[in-house]
Amino acid sequence: MFDMTPERAIELDAEARRILRLNDRGGYTVPTAGLYPYQWNWDSAFAAYGFAAFDIDRAWTELETLMAGQWENGMVPHIQFHVADPGYFPGADVWGTEDAPGKGAGRVASSGISQPAVAASFAWRIYRKDPGAGAARVRALFPRLVAFHRWFMAARAESGAVAISHPWEAGRDNAPDWDEAMAGVVPEGVAPYTRRDTGHVDPKMRPTKEDYDRYIWLVQFGRERGWDDAAIAAESPFRVADPTLTFTLMRACRDLGLLAEALGEDRGEIDGWIARLEAGAETLWNPEIACYDARNLRTGQLSGCVSNASFLGWWGGLRDGQPVDTLHRIFDAAPYSVPSHDPASPKFEGLRYWRGPVWGIMNMMVGVGLAEAGLIEEAARVRADTARLISERGFAEYFDPHDGTPAGGGTFTWTAAIWLGWASPNAEEL
Ligand code: DGY
Repeated sequence: MFDMTPERAIELDAEARRILRLNDRGGYTVPTAGLYPYQWNWDSAFAAYGFAAFDIDRAWTELETLMAGQWENGMVPHIQFHVADPGYFPGADVWGTEDAPGKGAGRVASSGISQPAVAASFAWRIYRKDPGAGAARVRALFPRLVAFHRWFMAARAESGAVAISHPWEAGRDNAPDWDEAMAGVVPEGVAPYTRRDTGHVDPKMRPTKEDYDRYIWLVQFGRERGWDDAAIAAESPFRVADPTLTFTLMRACRDLGLLAEALGEDRGEIDGWIARLEAGAETLWNPEIACYDARNLRTGQLSGCVSNASFLGWWGGLRDGQPVDTLHRIFDAAPYSVPSHDPASPKFEGLRYWRGPVWGIMNMMVGVGLAEAGLIEEAARVRADTARLISERGFAEYFDPHDGTPAGGGTFTWTAAIWLGWASPNAEEL
């Protein structure tokens, strides 16, 4: 752990709790005011993890609100638009999911895609912290979590690894991993639009217009197909198997299996998913860069990108043949790890969202996975870098790996959450 006085740690703990309360909209938490004014799927699951450090009841409420937005077909959307906010684009009107057959009647307005399935992992941790307080609540959530994973396996795992139908589904919106596949999307017929994100944050920290045109084209493409998963899988030019989705779902299935045991439920189906995902992960191993990367399912090409998702195999529960040498190389490439793209790559940009910056939540999953695998020094490095960035630069959305410049949104929910749950010297192992 990097050297921090107990007083400073207490101060940061208080600030992190303040941020979670600040971003609490009553039952759900926004990632940060302005830039992201709704409930995002994996942000919300991380928020629950943060709340569990000091308010376990509120932690369960967060997961309950998230899972209440689940579609009838099992999908949990990446955004739930609880209260309309003109400061965000694209809003519910652009997604047009209200009549999507998979959604079902009476559900909250939402996007038509999902995000990394980390909810079961945090449900398991929060339950484990206080089984008495959590037993009834987790029992009610369990069938929804199973349905969510079942949907992912049916709708996105045709290659064994889990595919994204839109870059926003990976959470790593503009990662260079998608460049080849995005070049195959011709953004003709995109209705005129005005971006809102660049009104909140310096454009050099956000995706480019070329990316945005394709993001919106893909939204229109899904909408025109009524958000039908089979049609989108068959017809979209964009289909990429992604290590983030694959390893987070693999881990979430392992945690769901533990929950099943605790609740006396059968875990046979879940074990089948884990086996399929383990086999699928092998299709993402790229021997040329000695780590996992993304595979364009339309061309078969691996992206050739070393990213922070390349090191999620440990979090996924894998132990053999993991990319420890590549991790050491990345450690040497920048003072702060783990960058979202290889600093030695010509595509690296230290401030541009997922093309270089360090993200606390990815560090938490990489760091916990490393520790569980017994790679203690590596785990300590990732945790110390995260603690140093937050202590010196605040609770930013992401940070430049070379000089720690804070970037994106400020007072950020998931950065506060991983501080409380993991990076703080006072964090209790959940
Ligand atoms: C955004 O609006 O930038 C989000 O990442 C989409 O999920």
